[in-house]
Amino acid sequence: MENIPKVSELLKSCRSILFITGAGISAESGLPTYRGIGGLYESQDTEDGIPVETALAGEMLYKDPSVTWKYLLQIERNCRNATFNRAHQIIAEMERAFNRVWVLTQNVDGFHTDAGAEHVIEIHGNLHHLKCMKCYWRKTVKDFSGLTIPPKCPKCGFIIRPDVVLFGEMLPFDKYQTLTDQVEKGFDIYFWIGTTGVFPYIQGPLVDAKHSGSTTVEINPDDTLLSGEVDIKIPMKAGEALERIWKEYKEKI
Ligand code: OAD
Ligand code: ZN
Repeated sequence: MENIPKVSELLKSCRSILFITGAGISAESGLPTYRGIGGLYESQDTEDGIPVETALAGEMLYKDPSVTWKYLLQIERNCRNATFNRAHQIIAEMERAFNRVWVLTQNVDGFHTDAGAEHVIEIHGNLHHLKCMKCYWRKTVKDFSGLTIPPKCPKCGFIIRPDVVLFGEMLPFDKYQTLTDQVEKGFDIYFWIGTTGVFPYIQGPLVDAKHSGSTTVEINPDDTLLSGEVDIKIPMKAGEALERIWKEYKEKI
Protein backbone atom coordinates (compact mmCIF):
# COMPACT_ATOMS: atom_id res chain seq x y z
CA MET A 1 0.00 0.00 0.00
CA GLU A 2 1.23 3.50 -0.74
CA ASN A 3 2.41 5.37 2.35
CA ILE A 4 -0.24 8.12 2.52
CA PRO A 5 -3.25 5.72 2.36
CA LYS A 6 -1.42 3.48 4.85
CA VAL A 7 -1.13 6.35 7.37
CA SER A 8 -4.71 7.57 6.88
CA GLU A 9 -5.93 3.98 7.37
CA LEU A 10 -3.82 3.56 10.53
CA LEU A 11 -5.20 6.81 11.98
CA LYS A 12 -8.70 5.29 12.00
CA SER A 13 -7.69 3.12 14.95
CA CYS A 14 -5.62 5.81 16.73
CA ARG A 15 -6.72 7.78 19.75
CA SER A 16 -3.49 9.56 20.60
CA ILE A 17 -0.86 11.30 18.44
CA LEU A 18 2.45 13.03 19.13
CA PHE A 19 3.70 15.44 16.47
CA ILE A 20 7.40 16.29 16.77
CA THR A 21 8.21 19.26 14.59
CA GLY A 22 11.22 21.29 13.51
CA ALA A 23 12.13 24.18 11.25
CA GLY A 24 10.93 22.29 8.14
CA ILE A 25 7.26 22.63 9.13
CA SER A 26 7.60 26.41 8.86
CA ALA A 27 9.47 26.28 5.53
CA GLU A 28 6.19 26.57 3.62
CA SER A 29 5.55 29.79 5.60
CA GLY A 30 8.71 31.18 4.03
CA LEU A 31 11.03 30.74 7.03
CA PRO A 32 14.57 29.44 6.47
CA THR A 33 15.60 26.19 8.17
CA TYR A 34 18.74 25.97 10.36
CA ARG A 35 20.52 23.24 8.42
CA GLY A 36 20.45 22.15 4.79
CA ILE A 37 20.07 24.23 1.64
CA GLY A 38 19.57 27.92 2.40
CA GLY A 39 19.69 27.15 6.13
CA LEU A 40 20.76 29.74 8.69
CA TYR A 41 23.82 27.66 9.66
CA GLU A 42 24.88 27.02 6.07
CA SER A 43 27.87 29.31 6.21
CA GLN A 44 30.11 28.11 9.04
CA ASP A 45 30.88 31.47 10.61
CA THR A 46 28.84 34.64 11.08
CA GLU A 47 29.95 37.94 9.57
CA ASP A 48 31.52 38.69 12.97
CA GLY A 49 33.88 35.77 12.32
CA ILE A 50 32.48 33.57 15.08
CA PRO A 51 30.42 30.37 14.75
CA VAL A 52 26.67 30.97 14.98
CA GLU A 53 26.56 28.60 17.98
CA THR A 54 28.89 31.03 19.82
CA ALA A 55 26.92 34.13 18.81
CA LEU A 56 23.64 32.52 19.88
CA ALA A 57 24.98 31.16 23.17
CA GLY A 58 23.77 32.07 26.65
CA GLU A 59 27.34 32.93 27.59
CA MET A 60 27.61 35.51 24.78
CA LEU A 61 24.33 37.10 25.79
CA TYR A 62 25.87 37.94 29.19
CA LYS A 63 29.29 38.90 27.79
CA ASP A 64 28.24 40.94 24.77
CA PRO A 65 24.44 41.16 24.43
CA SER A 66 24.58 43.21 21.20
CA VAL A 67 26.22 40.28 19.37
CA THR A 68 23.55 37.76 20.43
CA TRP A 69 20.78 40.28 19.82
CA LYS A 70 22.02 40.90 16.28
CA TYR A 71 21.37 37.25 15.40
CA LEU A 72 18.16 37.02 17.42
CA LEU A 73 16.95 39.96 15.38
CA GLN A 74 17.87 38.11 12.19
CA ILE A 75 15.71 35.15 13.23
CA GLU A 76 12.87 37.49 14.22
CA ARG A 77 13.09 39.35 10.89
CA ASN A 78 12.56 36.03 9.10
CA CYS A 79 9.32 35.44 11.04
CA ARG A 80 8.05 39.01 10.67
CA ASN A 81 4.94 39.20 8.46
CA ALA A 82 5.03 35.39 8.13
CA THR A 83 2.31 33.19 9.58
CA PHE A 84 1.36 29.56 10.10
CA ASN A 85 0.62 27.33 7.09
CA ARG A 86 -1.68 24.38 6.31
CA ALA A 87 0.55 21.94 8.17
CA HIS A 88 0.14 23.86 11.46
CA GLN A 89 -3.58 24.27 10.79
CA ILE A 90 -4.19 20.57 10.11
CA ILE A 91 -2.36 19.60 13.32
CA ALA A 92 -4.65 21.99 15.25
CA GLU A 93 -7.70 20.44 13.53
CA MET A 94 -6.48 16.96 14.40
CA GLU A 95 -6.13 18.00 18.05
CA ARG A 96 -9.89 18.53 18.08
CA ALA A 97 -10.65 15.28 16.22
CA PHE A 98 -8.65 12.82 18.31
CA ASN A 99 -8.70 11.93 21.98
CA ARG A 100 -5.19 13.13 22.96
CA VAL A 101 -2.89 15.06 20.65
CA TRP A 102 0.35 16.81 21.65
CA VAL A 103 2.93 18.78 19.69
CA LEU A 104 6.59 18.83 20.68
CA THR A 105 8.20 21.61 18.69
CA GLN A 106 11.74 22.95 18.48
CA ASN A 107 10.48 26.04 16.67
CA VAL A 108 10.42 29.42 18.39
CA ASP A 109 8.05 31.05 15.86
CA GLY A 110 4.87 30.27 17.83
CA PHE A 111 3.01 29.14 14.68
CA HIS A 112 1.50 26.00 16.26
CA THR A 113 -0.34 28.01 18.92
CA ASP A 114 -1.15 30.80 16.44
CA ALA A 115 -2.86 28.12 14.31
CA GLY A 116 -5.02 27.12 17.29
CA ALA A 117 -3.21 24.11 18.76
CA GLU A 118 -3.43 24.01 22.57
CA HIS A 119 -1.29 21.07 23.63
CA VAL A 120 2.01 22.47 22.45
CA ILE A 121 5.38 22.01 24.14
CA GLU A 122 7.65 24.77 22.82
CA ILE A 123 10.77 23.07 24.12
CA HIS A 124 13.08 25.83 22.81
CA GLY A 125 10.73 28.60 23.93
CA ASN A 126 9.05 31.40 22.00
CA LEU A 127 11.00 34.22 20.39
CA HIS A 128 8.22 36.77 20.93
CA HIS A 129 8.06 36.26 24.69
CA LEU A 130 10.50 38.83 26.03
CA LYS A 131 11.68 38.88 29.63
CA CYS A 132 14.09 40.85 31.78
CA MET A 133 17.30 39.04 32.73
CA LYS A 134 17.14 40.57 36.22
CA CYS A 135 13.61 41.43 37.40
CA TYR A 136 10.23 39.83 36.61
CA TRP A 137 9.23 42.08 33.69
CA ARG A 138 7.69 40.15 30.79
CA LYS A 139 5.95 41.15 27.56
CA THR A 140 4.90 39.52 24.28
CA VAL A 141 6.33 41.52 21.37
CA LYS A 142 5.38 40.41 17.85
CA ASP A 143 7.61 42.85 15.97
CA PHE A 144 11.13 43.72 17.12
CA SER A 145 11.63 46.61 14.65
CA GLY A 146 11.05 49.28 17.31
CA LEU A 147 13.63 47.88 19.75
CA THR A 148 16.98 49.50 20.45
CA ILE A 149 19.70 46.82 20.52
CA PRO A 150 20.36 45.51 23.10
CA PRO A 151 16.90 46.31 24.49
CA LYS A 152 16.63 47.40 28.13
CA CYS A 153 14.00 46.59 30.74
CA PRO A 154 11.54 49.49 31.24
CA LYS A 155 11.36 48.62 34.96
CA CYS A 156 14.98 48.11 36.03
CA GLY A 157 17.11 49.05 33.01
CA PHE A 158 18.82 45.64 32.74
CA ILE A 159 19.04 43.73 29.43
CA ILE A 160 15.94 41.93 28.21
CA ARG A 161 15.98 38.70 26.21
CA PRO A 162 13.57 36.39 24.41
CA ASP A 163 12.41 33.39 26.43
CA VAL A 164 14.26 30.93 24.19
CA VAL A 165 16.89 28.27 24.82
CA LEU A 166 20.26 29.52 23.59
CA PHE A 167 23.24 27.25 22.97
CA GLY A 168 24.71 25.95 26.21
CA GLU A 169 21.50 26.62 28.18
CA MET A 170 19.28 24.12 29.96
CA LEU A 171 15.85 23.15 28.64
CA PRO A 172 12.98 24.76 30.58
CA PHE A 173 12.24 22.40 33.44
CA ASP A 174 8.40 22.66 33.33
CA LYS A 175 8.28 21.95 29.60
CA TYR A 176 10.65 19.01 29.88
CA GLN A 177 8.50 17.63 32.70
CA THR A 178 5.32 17.93 30.58
CA LEU A 179 7.12 16.14 27.75
CA THR A 180 8.28 13.34 30.05
CA ASP A 181 4.76 12.91 31.51
CA GLN A 182 3.15 12.74 28.08
CA VAL A 183 5.71 10.38 26.55
CA GLU A 184 5.36 8.12 29.59
CA LYS A 185 1.63 7.81 28.88
CA GLY A 186 2.53 6.77 25.32
CA PHE A 187 0.93 7.58 21.97
CA ASP A 188 -0.61 5.35 19.29
CA ILE A 189 1.30 7.11 16.52
CA TYR A 190 4.30 9.45 16.36
CA PHE A 191 5.06 11.89 13.53
CA TRP A 192 8.47 13.52 12.97
CA ILE A 193 7.99 16.49 10.65
CA GLY A 194 10.69 18.75 9.22
CA THR A 195 13.46 18.06 11.72
CA THR A 196 16.96 16.70 11.32
CA GLY A 197 16.54 15.27 14.83
CA VAL A 198 19.93 16.27 16.21
CA PHE A 199 18.86 16.45 19.86
CA PRO A 200 18.42 13.37 22.09
CA TYR A 201 15.07 14.58 23.47
CA ILE A 202 13.78 14.73 19.86
CA GLN A 203 14.96 11.20 19.06
CA GLY A 204 13.94 9.89 22.49
CA PRO A 205 10.25 9.20 21.78
CA LEU A 206 11.39 6.70 19.09
CA VAL A 207 12.68 4.42 21.82
CA ASP A 208 9.33 4.59 23.58
CA ALA A 209 7.44 4.02 20.31
CA LYS A 210 9.53 0.93 19.50
CA HIS A 211 9.06 -0.42 23.00
CA SER A 212 5.27 -0.05 22.93
CA GLY A 213 4.86 -1.13 19.30
CA SER A 214 3.41 2.24 18.23
CA THR A 215 3.75 3.45 14.65
CA THR A 216 6.39 6.02 13.70
CA VAL A 217 6.11 8.24 10.63
CA GLU A 218 8.52 10.78 9.19
CA ILE A 219 7.45 13.57 6.82
CA ASN A 220 10.51 15.22 5.28
CA PRO A 221 11.53 15.61 1.62
CA ASP A 222 15.10 14.77 2.67
CA ASP A 223 16.71 11.95 4.63
CA THR A 224 17.59 12.62 8.28
CA LEU A 225 19.06 10.86 11.31
CA LEU A 226 15.60 9.39 11.93
CA SER A 227 14.78 8.13 8.41
CA GLY A 228 16.32 4.67 8.85
CA GLU A 229 14.52 4.18 12.19
CA VAL A 230 10.90 5.09 11.45
CA ASP A 231 8.26 2.61 10.22
CA ILE A 232 6.92 4.86 7.47
CA LYS A 233 8.83 7.53 5.56
CA ILE A 234 6.91 10.09 3.49
CA PRO A 235 9.39 12.07 1.37
CA MET A 236 7.15 15.09 0.87
CA LYS A 237 6.69 18.65 2.12
CA ALA A 238 4.81 18.89 5.42
CA GLY A 239 1.77 20.84 4.14
CA GLU A 240 1.28 18.66 1.08
CA ALA A 241 1.62 15.35 2.95
CA LEU A 242 -0.62 16.33 5.87
CA GLU A 243 -3.27 17.75 3.52
CA ARG A 244 -3.48 14.38 1.73
CA ILE A 245 -3.40 12.28 4.92
CA TRP A 246 -6.11 14.42 6.56
CA LYS A 247 -8.35 14.44 3.46
CA GLU A 248 -8.10 10.66 3.00
CA TYR A 249 -8.70 10.06 6.72
CA LYS A 250 -11.87 12.20 6.68
CA GLU A 251 -13.16 10.33 3.62
CA LYS A 252 -12.71 7.03 5.46
CA ILE A 253 -14.48 7.83 8.71
P1 OAD B 1 16.91 21.82 10.75
O1 OAD B 1 17.17 23.06 9.97
O2 OAD B 1 18.07 21.09 11.33
O3 OAD B 1 16.14 20.79 9.82
C1 OAD B 1 15.07 21.16 9.01
C2 OAD B 1 14.55 19.92 8.31
O4 OAD B 1 13.37 20.29 7.61
C3 OAD B 1 15.50 19.31 7.27
O5 OAD B 1 15.62 17.93 7.54
C4 OAD B 1 14.80 19.57 5.94
O6 OAD B 1 15.00 18.51 5.02
C5 OAD B 1 13.35 19.63 6.36
N1 OAD B 1 12.44 20.39 5.48
C6 OAD B 1 12.70 21.45 4.68
N2 OAD B 1 11.58 21.89 4.08
C7 OAD B 1 10.57 21.08 4.50
C8 OAD B 1 9.16 21.02 4.25
N3 OAD B 1 8.54 21.89 3.43
N4 OAD B 1 8.45 20.06 4.87
C9 OAD B 1 9.04 19.17 5.71
N5 OAD B 1 10.35 19.19 5.97
C10 OAD B 1 11.11 20.12 5.40
O7 OAD B 1 15.84 22.20 11.86
P2 OAD B 1 15.52 21.54 13.27
O8 OAD B 1 15.64 20.05 13.21
O9 OAD B 1 14.27 22.15 13.73
O10 OAD B 1 17.77 25.07 18.17
O11 OAD B 1 16.71 22.11 14.14
C11 OAD B 1 16.68 21.89 15.51
C12 OAD B 1 17.28 23.00 16.29
O12 OAD B 1 18.56 23.34 15.78
C13 OAD B 1 16.54 24.33 16.27
O13 OAD B 1 15.43 24.36 17.11
C14 OAD B 1 17.62 25.27 16.75
C15 OAD B 1 18.83 24.71 16.03
O14 OAD B 1 19.99 24.72 16.74
C16 OAD B 1 17.98 26.12 18.96
O15 OAD B 1 17.97 27.26 18.54
C17 OAD B 1 18.21 25.77 20.40
ZN1 ZN C 1 13.98 44.36 34.70
